[in-house]
Amino acid sequence: MLELTTDEKAMLEGKHGKATRKAMEIITTLGEIYGAERLIPVSSVQIAGVSYDNLGEFGLRYLSEMAEDGSVKVLTTLNPAGMDMLEWKRHGISEDFAKDQQRVIDAFEQMGVITTCTCTPYLIGNLPHYGEHIAWAESSAVCFANSVIGACTNREGGPSALSAALTGRTAEYGLHLDKNRAAQVKYEVGVKLETTDDFGLLGQVIGERTKNAIPYITGISHATTDDLKSFCASIATYGGVAIFHMENFTPNRTPVPEKTETVTAEDLEKARSALDDEGAEIDFISVGCPHASIGEIAKIASLLDGKRVASGKTVWVTTARPTKELAVKMGYSDKIENAGAFLVSDACCAVAPLKGRFKGLMTDSAKACFYARGKNKFRTEIRTIEECMREATSE
Ligand code: F3S
Repeated sequence: MLELTTDEKAMLEGKHGKATRKAMEIITTLGEIYGAERLIPVSSVQIAGVSYDNLGEFGLRYLSEMAEDGSVKVLTTLNPAGMDMLEWKRHGISEDFAKDQQRVIDAFEQMGVITTCTCTPYLIGNLPHYGEHIAWAESSAVCFANSVIGACTNREGGPSALSAALTGRTAEYGLHLDKNRAAQVKYEVGVKLETTDDFGLLGQVIGERTKNAIPYITGISHATTDDLKSFCASIATYGGVAIFHMENFTPNRTPVPEKTETVTAEDLEKARSALDDEGAEIDFISVGCPHASIGEIAKIASLLDGKRVASGKTVWVTTARPTKELAVKMGYSDKIENAGAFLVSDACCAVAPLKGRFKGLMTDSAKACFYARGKNKFRTEIRTIEECMREATSE
């Protein structure tokens, strides 16, 4: 039975306005469905479902209604939109789409949301600490927050994340409770991982096998933050995983499960072949899924420095706006753009309206392959960042 505080009851009775009442209805309904006993405060929210390509007019109408009198109570940021909010024209986005996307962002802004659109909020200042209760929606960021940071969040949907932002509350169930965060299956990795695409493939292999069971991963000797963000994106896409444990790399304590599976070099190769479409005609190269860090951008800039993107190919490097601003200051953006590639902020290749524009995508991201195939019907190839840039600049 869900118990509410006086303040929460007041929100539910509409004493804090219409939007807050609707938000509280969503939060309490979820709490009842999942058997929560109480609501808990959250200190950070990340909202997904921002691209007009996914939201459509119906979603936009809902947001506009909530924006009439709703305002966020805690630090809230957005997932990628369907376009770079400033430079969309250069990237071939239509005026009509841009107008609708701007209306979406305006509605969020009216509610006090920080309209930086990124799936890596933890790289740009929306960074919770260990044990902090938050309400995030983007699956890769949820997995990163729970596993790598040790914060606590369920995988929220767009409306439930917005509701958490408008009330500052979430229902206490699922991954907000310690008892639901323990590992269930051990995966011994018997292969050395070198690059972000390797980590994406490992996420694909374990995600497909483990589905919703929480993995405990051993055998990893080296992993950067970029590797872990690639792994999080992939394991959350190919499985339903919102938390994992990786020996020596993640901070949560858990009993080690007895049930053990192994991951071999052959498993990774099979996963790679599954993402490589034979004879794919590559005319689109996109890296930065999840959004590229400043370190990745520096590397891409040096790979493209003095080179030219081949005719007939389009290159997107996608990132958060503050990261792009830093890249501009450091001269990385010039090196990338002078080569004919685009440093795109606020958006990504999965949520931008790109259907029909390209035939084949090369990327270092297993998650990007999944959406390129499923949503945009592109053929795909997964390679390292170096190989992606080599493909971009070879005629
Ligand atoms: Fe982020 Fe888009 Fe990839 S939201 S995780 S860059 S599909």
